[in-house]
Amino acid sequence: MRVVTAQTLALALAAIPGSLAFPSSTTVQKRAFQWDETKYLIAFGDSYSYVQGTHGLQNYSFIGDLQDFAYDPQTLLTDKIVQNQTGTAEGGPNWVEFLTGCGVEEGVISPFDCDRQLWDFAFAGSDISVAYTPLHHNFTVSLVNQVKQFATYGQPVLTHTIEQPQTLISIWIGINDIGDSAKYSVDFPTFYNSLMDTLFSSVQTIYSLGYRSYLFMNLPPLDLRPGNLGSADPSPNATQIAWYNEALAQHAAAFNANHPDTNVLVFDAHAELSYILEHPGQFGIVNTTDFCAGYDQPDIEWNYQAYGCPTPLSTYFWYNSGHMTSHVHEILAGAVRDKLGGWSGI
Ligand SMILES: *[C@@H]1O[C@H](CO)[C@@H](O)[C@H](O)[C@H]1NC(C)=O
Ligand SMILES: *[C@@H]1O[C@H](CO)[C@@H](O)[C@H](O)[C@H]1NC(C)=O
Ligand SMILES: *[C@@H]1O[C@H](CO)[C@@H](O)[C@H](O)[C@H]1NC(C)=O
Ligand SMILES: *[C@@H]1O[C@H](CO)[C@@H](O)[C@H](O)[C@H]1NC(C)=O
Ligand SMILES: *[C@@H]1O[C@H](CO)[C@@H](O)[C@H](O)[C@H]1NC(C)=O
Repeated sequence: MRVVTAQTLALALAAIPGSLAFPSSTTVQKRAFQWDETKYLIAFGDSYSYVQGTHGLQNYSFIGDLQDFAYDPQTLLTDKIVQNQTGTAEGGPNWVEFLTGCGVEEGVISPFDCDRQLWDFAFAGSDISVAYTPLHHNFTVSLVNQVKQFATYGQPVLTHTIEQPQTLISIWIGINDIGDSAKYSVDFPTFYNSLMDTLFSSVQTIYSLGYRSYLFMNLPPLDLRPGNLGSADPSPNATQIAWYNEALAQHAAAFNANHPDTNVLVFDAHAELSYILEHPGQFGIVNTTDFCAGYDQPDIEWNYQAYGCPTPLSTYFWYNSGHMTSHVHEILAGAVRDKLGGWSGI
């Protein structure tokens, strides 16, 4: 069912000669964000956010890839989220699934069958743009291309099924970028600002499609991931992560200031995940330093000791060298939900 939105009303008014279709920019009305009324999450990003689709590329996407860039409405509308051990990059539900409650249960589910629909265009292994870092694979869809693909093939379909005022856009990107570029010989604060310029021109594209509420996640303490921990020269290091997060915060604030009708939240994932690392016991976590070698084995859930892991996977912070466990994603999603619940965009 399609109800009348501000946008369709504006279009209808525009057809009446002499009527004022849009408020002038000085009187632009901001609509307060309300999590309770948010029924749709459209996600972009990398393996931290990707979910497997029945019509997606296995281990990489909900739908399509760079070689298979176009999709038709039927493919999108009949695509389903797969939840199983390989359905995400964390061995179980990830933060967008926990946040929406869409795709948490084992099996397959259509986003249409969720109370909060998850439309997930994140692609595992994605960076922002090939202008800065090479593709991980020749089928990888960069963030810039995710948005291009969405604008071309997704939006024309979803515009008939979702309500924009009830939609939140989530973007979590940079995990691959900061790793891939950590050893570049550049002035990093300047480099990260360039990355953000490119990211926010894609955000501008999403804005031009009519979306007004945005959730950005900043970078985790990747300097503390296994392999980096205890290293004299972590890659990336804490300073680089702080620079990246500062560039993100500044660009998000500028975007918000330049578009007074938007709600923009930068969730401090870095602070939340650092807190969990410092207080693991509060969350039932006992292992913050290593990952379990058998993390992707089919029998890992019960047979962890066979892989040299003293405790179950759910007691680990790290799933593998670059990803947090599904358990950590669940904790993180809870913190994001709490934040969104008390946030109106002001
Ligand atoms: C997907 O990942 C799983 C686990 O790493 C692997 O066993 C499987 O072969 C992968 N599938 C494809 C098509 O690459
Ligand atoms: C997860 O489901 C997909 C799609 O049904 C399937 O291809 C894949 O093999 C499954 N993975 C596991 C670990 O069962
Ligand atoms: C992508 O890379 C694979 C492996 O290197 C190669 O076999 C394939 O031909 C490439 N595809 C395209 C379209 O370049
Ligand atoms: C991190 O790396 C950057 C770039 O190489 C360097 O300027 C900075 O001093 C490093 N910070 C630490 C704490 O090592
Ligand atoms: C953490 O995990 C590693 C790898 O599985 C294991 O060797 C180590 O004993 C674990 N540490 C604790 C405190 O359980």
